[in-house]
Parts: sequence; structure tokens; C-alpha cells
Amino acid sequence: EVIDGKIEYEHVAFTYPTADEPVLTDVSFTVNPREKLAIIGATGAGKTSLFQLIPRLYNVTKGVLYIDQKPITSYTLDQLRGSIGYVPQSPLLFTGSIRDNIAWGKENATREEIIQSAKDAQIHDTIMDLPDQYDTRVGQKGVNLSGGQKQRISIARALIRRPKILMLDDSTSALDLATESELLRAIQHYHCTTMIITSKISTAISADRILLMNDGKVLAIGTHEELLNQSSLYMRIVES
Ligand code: CTP
Ligand code: MG
Repeated sequence: EVIDGKIEYEHVAFTYPTADEPVLTDVSFTVNPREKLAIIGATGAGKTSLFQLIPRLYNVTKGVLYIDQKPITSYTLDQLRGSIGYVPQSPLLFTGSIRDNIAWGKENATREEIIQSAKDAQIHDTIMDLPDQYDTRVGQKGVNLSGGQKQRISIARALIRRPKILMLDDSTSALDLATESELLRAIQHYHCTTMIITSKISTAISADRILLMNDGKVLAIGTHEELLNQSSLYMRIVES
């Protein structure tokens, strides 16, 4: 099982099974246990591809990915996915109640746990305004939720399992700044390693460190101040 949530990419390269060209080349960096790392970079830079290797949606093509100093392949998929809260860029809800969608993967979740994770994901108030609250059906013949509401239900689904590693792929893009900062504050109480892909520079600056990706490579990693000194691209992003 994943205990500390330390993540280490060591000369990782990745090519999609159906592709000829790699989308990640020679990626090396470490995320410390309980650290919060923001990942930024242009569209197509490889941010989602980088993420998908952690829950092993794909295997690395070259190099090694370590979790808690052990190669990721030494864990079973159940061990990994039981420890990782992965919120995809376009989250999927299944046809059923909101309650079941949040509790998915933790069938024995209590009412209190469901409500607490929804509160932390900043979606509880919205749910309470729906006709059948937590019993409201989504999907076929259910209510239509906005992209941002689906994202937050998907975040609640990740939080309820008390993950050691939390991965948010642009999951706060639809939130206003105040709601987003409430969400990020709530997540701190989970004491998990957090990797957050974001297009908002303010969100990136609120992390412990920032990783700047460009064209499938790590261009720079460090604090906001360090990146300002290291990377002219970063400076341009901040100024834009
Ligand atoms: N790609 C691919 N096959 C996939 C998914 C992505 O070949 N199944 C390619 C894309 O065409 C892109 C590269 O992999 O050239 C990186 O994609 P991705 O990791 O999704 O980039 P992001 O940085 O996540 O881009 P965005 O900000 O738009 O989400
Ligand atoms: Mg992406």
C-alpha cells in the first residue's frame, strides 16, 4: 500500500500505444510526501499524460516511476488506485443518485462521510438546492449538471477515500477564486500529496512548488520566486 505518497519520476519517457512520437521525454522530478505541486504549461504540453502514469492508466515507456521509493509496477492496481484520488480533466458521472456517485469506490461510506466530502469539495450547498438533494439522479433522465458541478462531485468522490495522493487535472477551472480557495483550504486537512494541473497562475503560486512543462519536458521546477529567476517563459506567463 502507498503510505507516504512520495512520487519520483526518473528519466521517464512515454509514447501512447497508438502513436509513433513520444509525448513525454526524459521527465525527472520528485514530489515529497504531503507536498502540493502545481503543474502548468501550454495545451498539449503533456500535463494530462504525465498524470495518467500515476494511477497506471498507462505504463511508462522508458525510465522508472517510483511511489514511496518502490517502482510503481511493484504495486497492484488495486493498491495504487485505492491510495490515489484521481480527478480527470473531463470527469464522468454514471446514471444514478448523486450520493452513489460520490460514494463510488467506497460502498460502505456513511452519510456523514458523503456530506463531509461534498462540503470539502464545495458542492454541498448546490446539492441541497436540488429537488431530491443527495438522492437527485444524474445522467439519463436526471438533472443536468454544469461542467464545474460535475468536477466538484468528482472531487468529492476522490476525497471520500482519504487518498494519500490527490491529483486534480484542471479540476478548479470552473470555480470562482473565492470558492477555489475554500476548496484548496479544505483539501489541506487531508494531508495528502497533491498534484494540481492548473491554467490559473494564482492557483499555481498557492502551491508549494510549480512545475512548468513544455513540449513533453520539464522546463523548470521550483517556487514562484525560483521560477521567476530561472525561466523566461515562466516570467512571460506571469506577466500575461
Ligand atoms: N495525445 C495522444 N493520445 C492521447 C492523448 C493525447 O497522442 N490519447 C497527445 C496529444 O495530441 C498531445 C500530447 O499527447 O499532443 C499531450 O497531450 P496531453 O497530455 O493531453 O496535454 P495537456 O498538457 O494535458 O493539454 P491540455 O492543457 O489541453 O489538457
Ligand atoms: Mg490535459
